[in-house]
Amino acid sequence: MAVKKMKIGLCGLGTVGSGVFNVLTRNAELIAARAGCEVTVTHIGARRDNPNADTSNVKVSRDIFAVVNDDEIDVVVELIGGTTVAKDLVLQALSNGKHVVTANKALIAECGNEVFEVARNNNVTVAYEAAVAGGIPIIKALREGLAANRIEWLAGIINGTGNFILTEMGDKGRAFDDVLKEAQELGYAEADPTFDVEGIDAAHKLVILASLAFAMPLEVEKIFTEGISKLETRDVDYAAELGYRIKHLGIARKTDAGVELRVHPTLIPKDRLIANVDGVMNAVMVWGDAVGPTLYNGPGAGSEPTASAVIADVVDLARLLSAADDSEGKGITCVPTMGFVPEAIKEQPVLPIEAVETAFYLRLTAEDKPGVMSDITQIFSAAGISIEALVQKEPTTGEATVPVIMITNKTREGNMLAAIEQIASLPVVQGEVVRIRVESLG
Ligand code: HSE
Repeated sequence: MAVKKMKIGLCGLGTVGSGVFNVLTRNAELIAARAGCEVTVTHIGARRDNPNADTSNVKVSRDIFAVVNDDEIDVVVELIGGTTVAKDLVLQALSNGKHVVTANKALIAECGNEVFEVARNNNVTVAYEAAVAGGIPIIKALREGLAANRIEWLAGIINGTGNFILTEMGDKGRAFDDVLKEAQELGYAEADPTFDVEGIDAAHKLVILASLAFAMPLEVEKIFTEGISKLETRDVDYAAELGYRIKHLGIARKTDAGVELRVHPTLIPKDRLIANVDGVMNAVMVWGDAVGPTLYNGPGAGSEPTASAVIADVVDLARLLSAADDSEGKGITCVPTMGFVPEAIKEQPVLPIEAVETAFYLRLTAEDKPGVMSDITQIFSAAGISIEALVQKEPTTGEATVPVIMITNKTREGNMLAAIEQIASLPVVQGEVVRIRVESLG
């Protein structure tokens, strides 16, 4: 006997919550046909109504815990975000024997190990497709579609707000604060937008992807994190002149020495597909030993794109529950929450950023006189760093200094930092030496 109706408790009716409610209502028939049962929101927990969702026919509680303690509810959809109330709510739902679907990347990244264990102990599931890369089914791709592969590396634009800001600044010359404000109005940005611009949101997402790819526990504190707030428009322009675009990437790579886990602005050759993913779109490249390079692209934030991923999890659960009911709870297999059986997940050494090898873009301000270039190149030469491209711009009228832009070959970051320190201390070099990592993603 199949489950005839799955009752959803929706906690949070903001940008994503209203999207989930509206899509479930609008596509109810289609979703029922896919899920094998009716999927209905029967109880909403929200501090206030949302004019974008007509919830007049649904029970609404101002106390969100009323939803997780409602005996009728089969699945709790947590869309309030954060790691305080949301964590208590999710743990309570799991302890009450309810499955949880969440879009909360901070919760999964920071508390996932604990939350998943509570779920296992209560024989229920936590599903989190919407936590990474918005509407792109990247969790399903890594856990299921690529299950045959040894993942070698993955790299992604995984913060929609950041990509929106970079695109608008680069293409239209708009000011950072102005674009960030628009991203907030469009519902892309986090409640605390520093999470977007300082790379914290991307780090939350990267640790989830890396755990799924490499069977490691979730340890977000091990990620090297640099945001986009210090990027200057002139570097975006100089990079373009040299044939690159700057994207904020999350990169996880398995090397013999350890795992690289890093989030930072990155120059990418402009002919790579991922270099041309603009606006709120996200993209994740995954390289598997069997499949080779794969690329997943789609909206990384926003109401209905994120709802699309949330509802995909809801439909998976409905199918699972229908199957459990059909087989009287026997013989059910399900996809492990982190893509590997828990016993296979092992701590692995994570490389400090100083040990990571990349190429670099450098910009410095030097006095416009003979011998300067030779001083700089000698330092690089002694450090074993070769220069792939070097551009000395024209001095601005009246200025005695010129901007010098370089692309180097690959070197360990520690080596580059030591060379930069020497260069910055040359009397002919003024101010700081700007450095941005370069990845070929070939
Ligand atoms: N603030 C996030 C972003 C929302 O801009 O990508 C989606 O996780």
